Amino acid sequence: MGSMRWLSESELNVIRKKVAEMSGREAKEVRVVASPYRICPLGAHIDHQGGTVSAMTINKGILLGFVPSYDSQDIFFKVLLRSGQFKGEVRFSIDEVQLPRDKNSLPTSHEECSWGNYARGALYALQKRKNNLKQGITSFICGTDGLDSSGLSSSAAVGIAYLLAFESANNLTVTPLENIEYDRLIENEYLGLRNGILDQSAILLSAYGCLTYMDCKTKEHKLIRPPKLKEDPEKETKNKYKILLAFSGLKQALTTNPGYNNRVNECRDAARVLLRAIGNDGVEPLLSNVKLEEFEKHKCELSETLAKRAEHYFSENERVRKGVEAWASGNMEEFGKLITASGLSSIKNYECGCEPLIQMYNILLKAPGVYGARFSGAGFRGCCIAFVDADKALKAESYIKNEYSKFQPELASQMNTETVLICDAGDCARVI
Ligand code: GLA
Repeated sequence: MGSMRWLSESELNVIRKKVAEMSGREAKEVRVVASPYRICPLGAHIDHQGGTVSAMTINKGILLGFVPSYDSQDIFFKVLLRSGQFKGEVRFSIDEVQLPRDKNSLPTSHEECSWGNYARGALYALQKRKNNLKQGITSFICGTDGLDSSGLSSSAAVGIAYLLAFESANNLTVTPLENIEYDRLIENEYLGLRNGILDQSAILLSAYGCLTYMDCKTKEHKLIRPPKLKEDPEKETKNKYKILLAFSGLKQALTTNPGYNNRVNECRDAARVLLRAIGNDGVEPLLSNVKLEEFEKHKCELSETLAKRAEHYFSENERVRKGVEAWASGNMEEFGKLITASGLSSIKNYECGCEPLIQMYNILLKAPGVYGARFSGAGFRGCCIAFVDADKALKAESYIKNEYSKFQPELASQMNTETVLICDAGDCARVI
């Protein structure tokens, strides 16, 4: 329980009213989960290899209003879902949920997939870990108004929102680390994306104004406070920087893009070659099982492509280490430079951008007040993020809009949302 800085009482009331109408219950009985989107300034694409990452949430995200279903409500379904974004409603019974046998039979469009399957996946994960579920939910889910969430981990934000709702409806006490694992089951096993635990860790562990550091192998995590945050958290962080999101206009769910899983396979192939070279091929083929000096010694045995993927992994881990130090000492210039270098490594070594996103990255680097920029999330579509001097954020915004429409007039004009959004840091997900 708790309050959220990014939500107004009137927004919450709209959701409470919708669920009250759906369920025939009173608005005051409706609980709301707020599940924020995340950004990852440093540590891109190394979570699935057991690397170290840094993350924060922003003051935008998913809201899910719900009430536990009455047992008597309908014997054929105990879960009733509606969405502010997609039409129709989804109904199923909590004991119907099982892992789809054939992953290829999963819906492939973002529209179908993002909806009933995240709730089914949440039930699957909770049941797989032997949680006793008796209550379903009647719920309404929506995202921050008009925001294109591609690249901001909307998928993990939705998964976590359903997990927290089912847990609350069933009076389950679950730790953040358990929920990190449950969300991994939703994404890896239920939806078939071989991603790491960056997104859900950020959403579940972050605290306002802090940088969340996570070692994805050991699950050790820390909140890194900028200097003086303890004395005056609001003032110190609000005045110094803003988080700028710059949208490319390209949207596609990661589950429907083979690029992500292909890169994961390439990293594992690189790890296999290196582990064989050092005579340690009995362990899981993850780059975190290879030491930096072992990579340096044996990188000549990797093909050009695999050497680039491994180079990204090892250099990104190092940037996270330095970035944590820069953040802790309040050195935004250094922090920004590392973010930009991370963006460059994503383009050159991980090769995960696409033309509009690379153009956007280059535009951001020239925008007034920008400390550093990179693709947000996987970088196959969606948006770039930048840390920008708060006093120059508006100037940066108009520069970026103007420049992007020169490079991508069609994409820029088709966008039904703003090209640029200026945000603040957020909190972790919770039931309000
Ligand atoms: C997506 C995945 C994460 C992570 C990022 C890239 O958001 O879901 O696990 O790999 O891409 O850093």
